[in-house]
Amino acid sequence: MAAKAIEWLGGRLRILDQSKLPHQQIFADLDNYHDVVLAIKELKVRGAPAIGVAAAYGIALGASDIKTENKDEFLIQLNQVIKTFAASRPTAVNLFQAIERMKKAARGDGIAEIKNSLVNEAKRIHQEEETATRQLSQLGAELIKDGFTLLTHCNAGPLATAGYGTALGVIKATKEQGKKVSVFATETRPLLQGARLTAWELMQESIPVTLITDSMAGYFIQQRKIDCVIVGADRIAANGDVANKIGTYTLAVLAKESKIPFYVAAPTSTIDLSLSSGDKIPIEERSPEEVTHVQGVPISPQGITAANPAFDVTPHSYITAIITEKGIIREPYGKELLSIAK
Ligand code: MRU
Repeated sequence: MAAKAIEWLGGRLRILDQSKLPHQQIFADLDNYHDVVLAIKELKVRGAPAIGVAAAYGIALGASDIKTENKDEFLIQLNQVIKTFAASRPTAVNLFQAIERMKKAARGDGIAEIKNSLVNEAKRIHQEEETATRQLSQLGAELIKDGFTLLTHCNAGPLATAGYGTALGVIKATKEQGKKVSVFATETRPLLQGARLTAWELMQESIPVTLITDSMAGYFIQQRKIDCVIVGADRIAANGDVANKIGTYTLAVLAKESKIPFYVAAPTSTIDLSLSSGDKIPIEERSPEEVTHVQGVPISPQGITAANPAFDVTPHSYITAIITEKGIIREPYGKELLSIAK
């Protein structure tokens, strides 16, 4: 992808507004932390690793705007900035991993030194996601055979990672290894990350992609048109349970029933060893309007009750392998995750 999803311009964060894609490619220059928080809440920046990277730069921006020269007061105000980011979206753990790293980086004798250290840590987090997603993509591509058709859900490409991509990274690396590969992309209601973003990214890479509605997945899997399912992750619990975009669990059950592999691709920054199992992962509930409307257009009777959980949890027993930059892991996940997570 030519255009960078997130770019630090020194004192400003340039993002490609994902809520407007694919029909409008609009870049927004965010020069204060409030705008970065809003961009995360409104999914202008989205996808677990990208949220972490954006928040890290956002915290650095917030720190740079603090005017006091008293260090204790500075740290109190910085903590307020951090709290605002922590309240932006609850499910992707990359956000909280980035926040913890930024808190640790907020050290130094003087305020100027701390501000500088925060910018450097944000750049490091960004660089590490870039490297990790490239590495896991290379590893994951070894699992994909020449001529495979993969099904993916939501969007786990460069836009979502501020790097090379996770699920889409594996697909891109497979092609780079000289293998033929094609993709079925689910539209991913309610916010259509598959139809708008995955379709766009794959077409830019000249990877054959067929767009389907979410409810068509079972049909194509039953017809043996799909060789494996590959998705990203928002949080991986210590036992290997995976939270990802709503609808992922359905695909995992279908894959198991049809005996095709179900792969999860994610950097180790998505692993949360503090949660023993997936039922403890906080699931974001978003506005019902995202369900009752499509792209702002109402599609249901006024006054209808709608539910909108943004993620679901796939139990580890449905997952064939988790692809990380530190290796491909399989059952028993608990032991493997413990040995690779930082
Ligand atoms: O609500 P979103 O669009 O932020 O959800 C994103 C996903 O569920 C992705 O699949 C996940 O973050 C993996 S991104 C590499």
